[in-house]
Amino acid sequence: MDKEDRMDYQQAIELIKNNCPDKEAIKYLLMTSADEAEKLFALANRVRQEKLGDEIHLRGLIEFSSHCNNDCLYCGLRVSNVSQERYRLSYEEILAAGAVAYDFGYRTLVLQAGEDLFFDGEYLGKIIKDIKNKFKDIAITISAGVRTRATYEKWFDAGADRYLMRHETANEELFRNLRPGTTLSERINNLLILREVGFQIGTGNMVGVPGQTMDILVEDICLLHQLQPDMVGIGPFIPHDDTPLGKHSHGSIDLTLRELAIIRILLPYVHLPATTALATLAKDGQLRALNVGANVIMPNVTPTEVRALYSIYPEKAGSRENSVSTHSRIIELIKTANRTIAEHRGDSLRTK
Ligand code: 5AD
Ligand code: SF4
Repeated sequence: MDKEDRMDYQQAIELIKNNCPDKEAIKYLLMTSADEAEKLFALANRVRQEKLGDEIHLRGLIEFSSHCNNDCLYCGLRVSNVSQERYRLSYEEILAAGAVAYDFGYRTLVLQAGEDLFFDGEYLGKIIKDIKNKFKDIAITISAGVRTRATYEKWFDAGADRYLMRHETANEELFRNLRPGTTLSERINNLLILREVGFQIGTGNMVGVPGQTMDILVEDICLLHQLQPDMVGIGPFIPHDDTPLGKHSHGSIDLTLRELAIIRILLPYVHLPATTALATLAKDGQLRALNVGANVIMPNVTPTEVRALYSIYPEKAGSRENSVSTHSRIIELIKTANRTIAEHRGDSLRTK
């Protein structure tokens, strides 16, 4: 390739601004100089401001079970980690956490757990139904892993609105290595089934998980563009001592911010959280995410007594707080970022 043909910043930006997931352009932006990255960040912030305004959506996170059937190499909740104490919240505890979130003004609840079949179509369905009956203007997001279509349908019919299931990595081989016994195509197929059933869907990936190359991260972004999800969750990998990947280093904050910014420009209306993993690695991690396109925060409302046991990675931000202190910290963050809090459910804007 001669010099004239080589990608430059302006060309790369034009391509992604025109919603073209050009691999070379994406790779250029992921790897470009710090000065150009600052321009990318400013543009993403402008796109967020123009398309979505200053509202931040708060989604109250209830980590209702730390049991998991899977054995993902990166996660502290993997079934092989026998040193991990496990818990399940009771029906009453889940409804009480929902009430706490509602009183804070949150209008979405995210019910998240490992793949724990104890919470089946019927039982979690009842919980969903009862929450929706009690709080009429709340949306429910489920994040409980790969299940059968019949289970998804039960939860949807009970009133669940959205489903989160990160694709984790877009490389089939790396996926198989990191998530033994499962495949990327199965996971993507499940996302498509969830959409067919009627859910708004969320997916996403980790940044810097061992084995990920720059080209694989480009593939992650291309897959996100292809799937056109309603939400995209992106966070840096954080090593957990009690896993086979415990000795690796954590993912880069800067690279995570670059991916967030690219996604905001490529998928302008997508809901994009400033993730807890960013807050865990840096005090200003979430603030920086809010300044490069993020428009969602998921404050934890899980009872304090079990927070530390939901240990997907160690020292998760907020794991020593209670729901009131987490709420106050998030309110301060939003003030610092000069943003406002949405007072409605914040449904998908994708079709705009
Ligand atoms: N570091 C960062 N993120 C992790 N997750 C699981 N383990 C880790 C880790 N060690 C993420 C996965 C999962 C989400 C709930 O948490 O992407 O989808
Ligand atoms: Fe289970 Fe999810 Fe952790 Fe994998 S990432 S072990 S599915 S909780």
